[in-house]
Amino acid sequence: MLERSELADNALQALHDEDYDRPFNTQSLNADTLIYTRGRPAQSLDGEWNFCVDLLDTGLRQKWFTLLPEAPEDRIEPWDYDPYMGDTVPVPSCWQMLKEKWYFFEGSSWYTRALDHTPQPGRRQVLRVGAAQYDCKVFLNGEFLGNHYGGSTPFCVELTQSLRPGQNWLMLCVNNSRTLDRVPMRNTDWFNYGGIYRETALYDLPQTFVRDLFVRLNRDAIQVSAQIDGDATSARFEIPELNISTEIPVVDGVAEARIPAKPELWSPDTPKLYDVTLRCGEDEIRDRVGFRTIARRGTDIMLNGAPIFLRGISVHEDDEALGKTTTEDDLRRRFAHAKELGCNYLRLAHYPHHERAAELADELGLMLWEEVPVYWAIDFANPATLRDADNQLRELIRRDRNRASVIIWSIGNENPDTDARLAFMRQLAETAKSEDPTRLTSAACLVNHARLKIEDRLAQHIDVIGLNEYYGWYEENFDELGEIGRNSAPDRPVVISETGADGDHTPHGPKRGLFSLAYQDEVYRKQIATLRELDYVKGMSPWILYDFRVERRQGIFQRGWNRKGLIAADKETKKPAFQVLAAYYAERAADETRARTIPEGATT
Ligand code: GCU
Repeated sequence: MLERSELADNALQALHDEDYDRPFNTQSLNADTLIYTRGRPAQSLDGEWNFCVDLLDTGLRQKWFTLLPEAPEDRIEPWDYDPYMGDTVPVPSCWQMLKEKWYFFEGSSWYTRALDHTPQPGRRQVLRVGAAQYDCKVFLNGEFLGNHYGGSTPFCVELTQSLRPGQNWLMLCVNNSRTLDRVPMRNTDWFNYGGIYRETALYDLPQTFVRDLFVRLNRDAIQVSAQIDGDATSARFEIPELNISTEIPVVDGVAEARIPAKPELWSPDTPKLYDVTLRCGEDEIRDRVGFRTIARRGTDIMLNGAPIFLRGISVHEDDEALGKTTTEDDLRRRFAHAKELGCNYLRLAHYPHHERAAELADELGLMLWEEVPVYWAIDFANPATLRDADNQLRELIRRDRNRASVIIWSIGNENPDTDARLAFMRQLAETAKSEDPTRLTSAACLVNHARLKIEDRLAQHIDVIGLNEYYGWYEENFDELGEIGRNSAPDRPVVISETGADGDHTPHGPKRGLFSLAYQDEVYRKQIATLRELDYVKGMSPWILYDFRVERRQGIFQRGWNRKGLIAADKETKKPAFQVLAAYYAERAADETRARTIPEGATT
């Protein structure tokens, strides 16, 4: 017992103080402290970090972050954890996938690594973490620098003032507890991973740098909006392939310009990207941006002024071996399977995926629905929860709004239609439009099964109505799906954001009935036969491409996995329903090609 330790002021008192974490839950690292990193050189901080699980938050209570490195035999006080010795783990990773004893661990964990620094006058150092699930507190040389909420969005923290010459010690305390006020709350149908599970890097910046850049098509011009941190009077924007090289005035840190241009438009068939550069003082950022328009007209979704049907599939970020950590190969395999299915679109459920996903989708020509985890029950009446959700949405949009592949921002999934939820989601819908008026908004809504109608008060506040319906699985009477179609007259596009059925492909799987491959196949056939008759359905993203891990499914055919995948968790074994959906998408794609080649006014 550290009775006499000055580490925690009064160690005994620290055991009785249940407000021990309040000083560290500042949410001070958020959308406003992000920096633009594309095209910048970075010093990777990935690799082995010291690691320790901390179920009771002893680290915050005893202030482990103030412990200095010392040989054990030289220490004069007993200690419960030494951040500079013991276990190490690779970053990025999910601790659940590293040791059996950590599989179901939920709580705080401490990551520590050394950071060598050589001071350079006039330079600024910023740490960026790609994602840490769920809450992350940052300490440098024992000083608390800030805290981030949100398990799937990047965050940045400036280290400049706290770095010292030579060796520094960086500590991140990551907590993945599921609580009532978090987003998502404590009950999800996906596994609650934890850890620093995306890349970490250090950026060395000039005193004045480009904090944010947003480039998009605005009718027959390119709209440029940039935020400059530091003193600047102008910035130079270039797109060489379009012969654009423009000096843009910077006023109060903002550079705004509308530059006439007629770029080749990005689409799944023609995923054209342009090299874009913005220079300001000594700083330079680069990106590869596609230009297109996405809008709704009546119940149509319009890409570059033409109606499209979204041939999609839903995906989680989940891997049998890596958990929520994603690799380039994993992403490329995902998109290759989607293309094999005949997709032009994916729903990245239920939270922001790795930023590499949208970058690759830009190159490969796939449209994306991106989403914040306002999932099922959320503490909709809690202002702090709204602040957290709103910030996660802003971080996602600032991270990906230069990605042509992203066409839809989704603000939630299957939330109960209550007054508190409506007020909460209306705020998110407004935030999405204020951060990015160029894209469509949506949410996966529920059907009103009592009245067999598409009826959700949120629908009038979003552009596209996502519909999760599981006729053939959770709802047995298939005829109702057709009735919903006849009873509903939505004034905006509807996409089936989820439908599907479990199919256990293993030898344990049943030969017929629920959880059999045959039944999953039959559900897909009946869903397609019904949905194809609903002309206001402008897309679908069945649930789901791959089987995925989840704690709450322990039936004899699930065994800790949701088996609605069209491909098993090995990401190789296709189930029969894969070919059923692929055949439908091939048919739809052929129809679209024919429609495009028939001259205006001619008959087929
Ligand atoms: C829900 C939910 C998914 C879930 C799926 C299922 O619609 O949105 O997250 O995994 O149904 O029950 O398999």
